[in-house]
Amino acid sequence: MQNATQIGLNHTGARLSPLDSEQQIKASQEVLPDVPGNEQRLALERTELASEAESIGSVPLPGSTKGMLKTALNTLVGVNPEVLIDKLGERLAFERSGTRLYEALMAKVQAIEDVDTEDMLETLQNFHDQEAEHFKLLEGALERLGADPTAMTPCADVVGVSAAGILQVVSDPRTNLAQSLNALLTAELTDNAGWELLIRLAETSGQNEIADSFNKALAQEQMHLETVRNWLAMEVMRQV
Ligand SMILES: [Fe+2]
Repeated sequence: MQNATQIGLNHTGARLSPLDSEQQIKASQEVLPDVPGNEQRLALERTELASEAESIGSVPLPGSTKGMLKTALNTLVGVNPEVLIDKLGERLAFERSGTRLYEALMAKVQAIEDVDTEDMLETLQNFHDQEAEHFKLLEGALERLGADPTAMTPCADVVGVSAAGILQVVSDPRTNLAQSLNALLTAELTDNAGWELLIRLAETSGQNEIADSFNKALAQEQMHLETVRNWLAMEVMRQV
């Protein structure tokens, strides 16, 4: 694996060819877009569509009588249980993506030849296993609320789309370790903020036991974040 930033035949810069660039700028002024409109009309269209659009999905009705009773009870005390269920579904989807990310990164690290990666691989495996444990923890919390952990909630759907780019970076065979760690850092930053919010939300929803059970996961995520941040810095500095 090519694991360092290199000078090469990159022709993307406009300054490499001032004459061609001049012609390109001229052409962009002469050849108008074949779709009518401008940025203001585009913004108006977006606003109009957003005001008319349906939501991206819904939280399913609880599948069990026990779940229905809990939902009814929560609604009676003034809490919307669907918000917590939606966000639990979101973290569950994200932790699943997290295990995929670590799997892809471990495969990539195996290809590194010029650095000793034994310790790193061991830590990556640990973090992978913890992401899988978090997935199970969330599955249990959803079941406790009488919700179906296999359902794709709206926020789970959205977070899956967000994480797709991160997974694309790490699973691209051409990206090096630093580039992959950079993508992983985005995931871990989001994950930390996600757990913090989820604990707050569980407490506000009167689910203190669920909130308490998440503290260990948050502590582990904080460790993931610090480690990935340090690895990235070390790798970039090593290249310098
Ligand atoms: Fe993590």
